[in-house]
Amino acid sequence: MKKKIVAGNWKMNKTFKEAEDLLFGIADALISGRPDDVEVVVCPPALYLELATDVATEHDFSCGAQNLSEHEAGAYTGEISAAMIRSTGAAYVILGHSERRTYYGEHDQLIGKKILQALRHELIPIYCCGEVLEEREAGRHFQVVEKQISDALSGLDADAFSKVVIAYEPVWAIGTGRTASPEQAQEMHAFIRKVLASHFGEHAANDTTILYGGSCNAANARELFANPDVDGGLIGGASLKAEDFVKIVNSF
Ligand code: G3H
Repeated sequence: MKKKIVAGNWKMNKTFKEAEDLLFGIADALISGRPDDVEVVVCPPALYLELATDVATEHDFSCGAQNLSEHEAGAYTGEISAAMIRSTGAAYVILGHSERRTYYGEHDQLIGKKILQALRHELIPIYCCGEVLEEREAGRHFQVVEKQISDALSGLDADAFSKVVIAYEPVWAIGTGRTASPEQAQEMHAFIRKVLASHFGEHAANDTTILYGGSCNAANARELFANPDVDGGLIGGASLKAEDFVKIVNSF
């Protein structure tokens, strides 16, 4: 079901006390005003998920993890399972983020397994896709994103796919201060919807939430979110300050 979502990906930031301050800061800022129809999702490091879901439950926002293991349970030192994440009360999980692809060698086949694992435990996957600068400059961005979507998602049945949220994150815009223009974002989001329609039908594609991520902030969110195929944002750097993050929430 398509909805408006603003999700904050804290990445590997914040100590316990800082995380607590940020969570309560977000809660306070949301109390001062927020659109009724926007779901707010906070994705802290997994260590803080239980704390985050406690605050979130009282303040009407949701929480998500930044990754999970493709395995169910067992001898996988350092890994965190979907069941563990779900047991904290988290509802979402970011999968296929470009930082996982680049630094940890995650590829679409593995990400596809993680998506299945998330769905098995009733977590909503936020599946990230997006091209690197070289691919955009070579005019291959549509091809790259189409392949990422087809490889990771095309094995899902219609019911499973209906739970998935997509985040288009052009890698050249992540943490660089260089945002995709509203036209570039709209063009790619409309293309993604077309690709989804070819796999799952037009109705399912129109029902899919597609977020934009990449240097989205309080100054540019409104213009990005005004596009018909941009259903919200996956926010990195600007989600680390409560006031900035909630300004983005209020940009719809
Ligand atoms: O998951 C979030 C994205 O990687 C965007 O990060 O807003 O710091 O560019 P950024």
